[in-house]
Amino acid sequence: MELDSFQEEALQALSGAKDSKALELLRVKYLGRKGALTERFAALKDPAQSPAEKSRLGQQLNEVKRRLEEALAERTVSLQTGPVPSRPKQDLTLPGHVPQAGRLHPLSQTLERILEIFQSLGFPAVQGPEVETEFNNFEALNIPAEHPSRENFDTFYLKTAVGTAPALLRSHTSPVQIRFMKSHPPPFQVVVPGRVYRPDAVDATHCFQFHQVEGLAVAPGLTFGDLKGVLASWAQGMFGSSARLRFRPHHFPFTEPSAEGDLACIFCSGSGCRVCGRKGWLEILGCGMVHPQVFKAVGYPAGTVGFAFGMGVERIAMLLHGVEDIRLFYENDLRFLRQFP
Ligand code: DAH
Repeated sequence: MELDSFQEEALQALSGAKDSKALELLRVKYLGRKGALTERFAALKDPAQSPAEKSRLGQQLNEVKRRLEEALAERTVSLQTGPVPSRPKQDLTLPGHVPQAGRLHPLSQTLERILEIFQSLGFPAVQGPEVETEFNNFEALNIPAEHPSRENFDTFYLKTAVGTAPALLRSHTSPVQIRFMKSHPPPFQVVVPGRVYRPDAVDATHCFQFHQVEGLAVAPGLTFGDLKGVLASWAQGMFGSSARLRFRPHHFPFTEPSAEGDLACIFCSGSGCRVCGRKGWLEILGCGMVHPQVFKAVGYPAGTVGFAFGMGVERIAMLLHGVEDIRLFYENDLRFLRQFP
């Protein structure tokens, strides 16, 4: 045991020698002719020991000597050449870890494309809050309480303190028209992307939450022809140069006249198929000339003219990609999402 700790001490000293001079002193101390190990070999001559003991001790001493000489040689080399570089901890021949790259959700991709085209037509995007007042979501848009059209824009109400104005989740992006007009004088033209809410039962084409893009242009002399031109150009940018739109009379409280815009079916080019229900047309937006009541609600002078439109992002994404169930957009199923690089 004593020999073990001697060996340990000597090995540590040798391998830790600061320079060759210190190493030489250690060599003399341990392995020199009068060194510590030599002294131990001398003990072999002690007549009190049996031959068996002598032979065992001799073997042990020789082993210690071999190790010390080895350590001495190693340290001699390492002091000359610097530290031996440690072996690399990684096996560079193994295949690498490919990082999982994210990508935009198909709805975001669709929305970006919609906005990009409007941007190129001179319509920058602005936004408004998802929590709205009844005034902005309904009254100012000419949807009075008790009027049957209010049902179409039914929404979720939020709990508010008694005596304060009711707050709700906006059921369309149209209230941002009101906000924008209240803070900007014409002329302008903007689009408004955003999330909207309706208490609809969830099925293949409905969800309690979805996305719209609203458009609003107010400037002297604007006509329904301008509205058609803007939307037709947008449709061609979105669906290809052969895209055709038709405008069908409709009713919205906040526009007069109002229309729904139908896209000639992009699957059958208008001849009728399963997607368009054999009609040849796909309803994709609502639009019209802004109702004078709306301008009045924001304090614009009589005689102001402008047009507005609104479209659903999910609906357009479903058409673009042939997605048949709106729920796929919200389930975070990577097997679905990975199909939109
Ligand atoms: N706000 C309507 C909706 O949610 C869409 C709409 C129709 C917006 C006609 C408009 C418009 O600005 O002119 O169904």
